[in-house]
Amino acid sequence: MSNVCPGVCAPAVMGGESDRPKLLLLSANPNPSSKFVIKGNSILKEWSGQIQPALVASFIFLCCLEACFWVRNLTLKKKLPGPFAWPLVGNAMQLGQMPHITFSKLAKRYGNVYQIRLGSSDIVVLNGESAIRKALLQHSTEFAGRPNFVSFQVVSGGTSMTFTSYSKQWKMHRKIAQSTIRAFSSANSQTKKSFEKHIAAEAEELVETFLRLSSNKQYFSPSHELTVAAANIICALCFGKRYGHDDPEFRTLLSKVNKFSETVGAGSLVDVMPWLQSFPNPVRSMFQSFKELNNDFFMFVKGKVVEHRQSYDPEFTRDMSDAFIGVIDHAETETGLTEAHTESTVSDLIGAGMDTVSTALHWMLLLLVKYPSIQTKLQEHVDKVVGRDRLPSIEDKCNLAYLEAFIYETMRYTSFVPVTIPHSTTSDVTIEGLRIPKDTVVFINQWSVNHDPQKWQDPHIFNPSGQRPDQQRDDLLYREETMHWRSDRKSGSVPDRCHFDPPTNF
Ligand code: HEM
Repeated sequence: MSNVCPGVCAPAVMGGESDRPKLLLLSANPNPSSKFVIKGNSILKEWSGQIQPALVASFIFLCCLEACFWVRNLTLKKKLPGPFAWPLVGNAMQLGQMPHITFSKLAKRYGNVYQIRLGSSDIVVLNGESAIRKALLQHSTEFAGRPNFVSFQVVSGGTSMTFTSYSKQWKMHRKIAQSTIRAFSSANSQTKKSFEKHIAAEAEELVETFLRLSSNKQYFSPSHELTVAAANIICALCFGKRYGHDDPEFRTLLSKVNKFSETVGAGSLVDVMPWLQSFPNPVRSMFQSFKELNNDFFMFVKGKVVEHRQSYDPEFTRDMSDAFIGVIDHAETETGLTEAHTESTVSDLIGAGMDTVSTALHWMLLLLVKYPSIQTKLQEHVDKVVGRDRLPSIEDKCNLAYLEAFIYETMRYTSFVPVTIPHSTTSDVTIEGLRIPKDTVVFINQWSVNHDPQKWQDPHIFNPSGQRPDQQRDDLLYREETMHWRSDRKSGSVPDRCHFDPPTNF
């Protein structure tokens, strides 16, 4: 922030000194004989004659504009229910610290599909399993867009796959990314094994680090170590290299990723009130720092991809960066993608894979500490199935039902990505009898499904034994058919918009 502030704050201070304090000084000056004051006063009088009507006209114009939006909003409201939206800010002040909870409360009043307004954007919020499944499965193409938010345009150099909207080029981009990830993680038993080796090595290192940090019964914060472990897995895939826990370059990279989610996501103010960028204010400063950290992160990743390009050998694919260079830079057929897409794909995957997996690990550790009896039960379970002479492997998965239940229950209970990245509609579409026009921003409230009392016995209680793992798998919105694949099931074609299977095979 410190290197951002001078740039952002300077105009505020300068503007204040050069205009407002001078006017105050002039009008408050007790000496009417001062030439400066007389001159100032006459200028003031002369100007006030012109400024006042201009201000009044601007004010009336803004009110009319707002009234037009308001009337337009009312017409839309005839079709879509939703709370009253205040002029200028809409419902922004109502969202609170936890918008997903507010969205669920509003759903009780207005139904599972309703409309809110944030700044100048009309937004449809989808809640509950039925509406969300219909949107993401039956109407996957119609809901596969991304809004044209300013914050989305600064991610991964502006050619992000995750944050760009649905198009022919985007489909190609996603198809290439998806098949490359598969090729490196779950394509066949050999890739699965080598991927598993990366994860197992990282897990061993993590345990050793924990043992070292807790020697002599010391307390320690596991946060940095968990983030490094998660980041190393995706970095090993992308760059063929893992980093030491104290590597300064890596530490800097991680600190940037941690801040990312503060700005991107449902409800980011600068996205729905873009005019906030035009004058100095805290939102603008935050956005400025968001742009900088994105740029730094992207430059780091780009540097690595450029190094790969310089030593690229088509006969020998070292890692995913090489694979993307092969299929995008050296594509045999026209893909419409450029070298910039190679860099942005790697950047997207590292950005998406680090923070999410590390957050999941944080939650799991916290829940193990909070529920020691569950921890003991899990330990006994793993000891019985795997023993203490080796690490668990993917082949053990079918015999580790309680462990699986623990992981799914963590995902359900925490729902730590409660609202997905905002979508937008690619054409007019009707959900639950309500028509949503093309180019509408859509928020998908996953939390509402994972905490639906009709679906879960005690949704606010963490209870891995309470649900059968197969039922959890079927119900969770993290699973393939909903969050991971936004697919066109009818035609059996490749999904339109996908979320990759997390490589940990959740
Ligand atoms: C526990 C781990 C994870 C969770 C909870 C998670 C959650 C999510 C969510 C909620 C979305 C937004 C979906 C939407 O917009 O509807 C998303 C998108 C995405 N995630 Fe993950 N994710 C996880 C792990 C990963 C990993 C490990 C990778 C990469 C290797 C990854 C890559 C992506 C990509 C590329 C997208 C954008 C997909 C698209 O726009 O179609 N995620 N993730």
